Amino acid sequence: MLAARAVSASMEDPLSALELGQVDEPDVPDGWELVEVKAVSLNHHDVWSLRGIGLPEERLPMIIGCDAAGIDSKGDEVIVHAVLGDPDFPGGELLDPKRTLLSELHPGTLAERVAVPRRNLVPKPPDLSFEEACCLPTAWLTAYRMLFDRSGLTPGQTVLIQGAGGGVASAAIELGRAGGFRVWATSREERKRDYATELGAHAVFESGARLPEKVDVVIETVGKATWGHSLRSLKPGGRIVVAGATSGMDPSAELSRVFFKELEVVGSTMGTLDELARLVSLVDLTGIRPRIDRVLALSDVGEGIRALAEGDVLGKIVIKP
Ligand SMILES: NC(=O)c1ccc[n+]([C@@H]2O[C@H](COP(=O)([O-])OP(=O)(O)OC[C@H]3O[C@@H](n4cnc5c(N)ncnc54)[C@H](OP(=O)(O)O)[C@@H]3O)[C@@H](O)[C@H]2O)c1
Repeated sequence: MLAARAVSASMEDPLSALELGQVDEPDVPDGWELVEVKAVSLNHHDVWSLRGIGLPEERLPMIIGCDAAGIDSKGDEVIVHAVLGDPDFPGGELLDPKRTLLSELHPGTLAERVAVPRRNLVPKPPDLSFEEACCLPTAWLTAYRMLFDRSGLTPGQTVLIQGAGGGVASAAIELGRAGGFRVWATSREERKRDYATELGAHAVFESGARLPEKVDVVIETVGKATWGHSLRSLKPGGRIVVAGATSGMDPSAELSRVFFKELEVVGSTMGTLDELARLVSLVDLTGIRPRIDRVLALSDVGEGIRALAEGDVLGKIVIKP
């Protein structure tokens, strides 16, 4: 079958680590299911994999890709939960120290077929296309957990979302609006700020701009480039929920600001299988849909990876094997 694999690692030129070619069919262990992949959405995780972050050399070559929607062996339309962890671990699968994402230890989804534990399949509602459904398991699930579990936000409060063009950020704008929060967003580019407004942001600002008032919560996935602004934008006692650092880790945590203002910094990662099922239900009930930047054939996956690496994206890039 055709698949996209990381065959090496390069921090500077992640595309050079990508190889598209024929590979063996997946092994399907007991309790696992073979899914015919209909659509895959790209995530910044795929760029990190090609840079060698989270994917050490001894695991190469590895099929990359976390998200998929497709058809299982019974002919049912399914969405794949990308987190492989023990659901019985105290505190849940996300706290399991052996937790892994598809494409880290087991072959990922950028292929014609993928094997996954049967428990990781969530039914796809008929009203959701495969292209829309495949955007949910990573970026949208991460945004869902950040907003509705980790943030402590209640409807009517204000949330600032940094880096509006990104997959997680644009999902957070749509979900935040649906959740009844006042949604403010920042972006470096005017076209992305316009896009954030289209998605439902109540107000948009240039990255780093002074806000008219302080916010209750910041949704942070940009990292070093926005971290200081996130801290400065919070009300005393406010909370940053952080799930990523695309622009780099910030070695200066500005600790004095954190303790003088009694701020909270809360980590968040992906989401549980139950949360994915609730997210799918929310999308189905409200009619909100992931915005798709472009749909590409698997043979053109390099174009999508390049766009993500350069930040040239509005929402999600979808690949059709
Ligand atoms: N912990 C988890 O479970 C989890 C899950 C999903 C994602 N993540 C992480 O979260 C991050 C975002 O993921 P994604 O898939 O949404 O990535 P993405 O689609 O590539 O979005 C990245 C966004 O970050 C902003 N950005 C990048 N560099 C910047 C800079 N130098 N200055 C200001 N803004 C910058 C850009 O927003 P603007 O151009 O609009 O300013 C860009 O659109 C990644 O680091 C990813 O690894 C973590």
